[in-house]
Amino acid sequence: MMMLNLSAALGLLAFIPITVNASPAITNNCIELLVPVPVKATNIEYDIPRVHDTISAVNWAVNVTTWSNKNYAARIIRNVTISQTFNIHAKLCVPSVATSKSSTIQLLTAGNGFDKRYWDVEVNPSKYNYIDAAISKGYSVLAYDKLGCGKSDKPDGYTMVQVPSEVEILASLTRIVRSGKLLSASEILSNIKSTELLKKFNVRPKKVLQIGHSYGSVLIQALLAKYGDELADGAILTGFLVSSQATANNVAHFDHDYAAESDSSRFGRYGPGYIVLVKATLQKLFFRGTSAGFEKKLLDYTEKIKQPETVGVYGSEGTLSFSPAAGYSGPVMTMAGEFDYPLCNGDCKGAYEANYTMGLFPAGTNNFTFHLVPETGHALTLAKSAAETAQKMLDYLEDNGL
Ligand SMILES: *[C@@H]1O[C@H](CO)[C@@H](O)[C@H](O)[C@H]1NC(C)=O
Ligand SMILES: *[C@@H]1O[C@H](CO)[C@@H](O)[C@H](O)[C@H]1NC(C)=O
Ligand SMILES: *[C@@H]1O[C@H](CO)[C@@H](O)[C@H](O)[C@H]1NC(C)=O
Ligand SMILES: *[C@@H]1O[C@H](CO)[C@@H](O)[C@H](O)[C@H]1NC(C)=O
Repeated sequence: MMMLNLSAALGLLAFIPITVNASPAITNNCIELLVPVPVKATNIEYDIPRVHDTISAVNWAVNVTTWSNKNYAARIIRNVTISQTFNIHAKLCVPSVATSKSSTIQLLTAGNGFDKRYWDVEVNPSKYNYIDAAISKGYSVLAYDKLGCGKSDKPDGYTMVQVPSEVEILASLTRIVRSGKLLSASEILSNIKSTELLKKFNVRPKKVLQIGHSYGSVLIQALLAKYGDELADGAILTGFLVSSQATANNVAHFDHDYAAESDSSRFGRYGPGYIVLVKATLQKLFFRGTSAGFEKKLLDYTEKIKQPETVGVYGSEGTLSFSPAAGYSGPVMTMAGEFDYPLCNGDCKGAYEANYTMGLFPAGTNNFTFHLVPETGHALTLAKSAAETAQKMLDYLEDNGL
């Protein structure tokens, strides 16, 4: 029997000419964290039907959209003060090789119906995975599960998970990241030696970029309006635009099941007020109606990773009024798919309210840019155009010195 002598083998290798790339490929290193995030916010209790099974979920959607019924502003019962700490699940990824950009961290906030995997697509990652694309340019990335989805806490679906509390979660999480104390504040869920942890992952970011999709972009706009330059050096709001067709579709057009009943093995832990989109709706809402812009396996993947949403979020979106982010002076790019159904009723050309959207970022120094992604629906990272979209985003950051 032949024994392989390791040192001999290594010695042999030493004489084999090895082609070394001038710059080694940058791959990602990731760890998972549970971050206790302290939050103070004022949410609202709305007079809306209770949702505890699929019949009552449909009843809710019809009730809140019937034209002659009260709008959300007229349904306000009282303020609900939130003052507590939520456990937020996050994934921190850093480049394998330190770069000039590794002290710039991209904080990724997904939209309604998705957890952080929206940015971390496991199907054909070289094409669809935004985290990989950002890391390969040298950035560090923190993606998190919003409150009420993924592996984060899932509190009461009526009054706890709403725009105000989610804006404050993002604010609080950003402060922890900016302070350089993310690791010490968190429970480290990945199995990693503490020396390696500190060596690789102790990110002390000089810059924080807020990157969102859809509802995540809405949260970021509200964050910038409230906190200005304090919590962002740059922002990209995808799946975000103000359109003349924006109200043409409403929640009743997007069928939801009661989450716990629709799939008890996946969503059994979700309580009252949590609903989840049915598969046909995922296609309508996130992809183009035609299959020209997407691959079927990505629709199947979306069904696999879809996340519950709360009726509280819909209520708080119903009383949300955008305020201009007057105190924010960093760069802002907004982008949307050309054939976005929920934002533009299927066609954003001519429906885009450019000057209204620009008006949300009035500082004048922020190099506001809007990009319409051709042949694409609402879910940009899941469309055939995903790689070009990621490139466009990263180019914008680069061009703006970020
Ligand atoms: C809609 O829901 C509200 C709040 O639960 C209830 O007061 C109202 O009667 C409902 N309206 C209809 C038409 O079901
Ligand atoms: C609810 O809170 C808002 C601020 O978030 C405040 O303007 C409003 O007066 C409060 N309403 C009540 C009834 O306390
Ligand atoms: C742009 O904004 C101005 C002032 O707010 C408004 O009068 C005008 O109609 C808007 N233009 C478009 C194309 O929406
Ligand atoms: C604004 O952004 C564009 C890219 O969209 C870039 O080419 C340009 O240099 C930026 N302008 C400034 C003043 O940074």
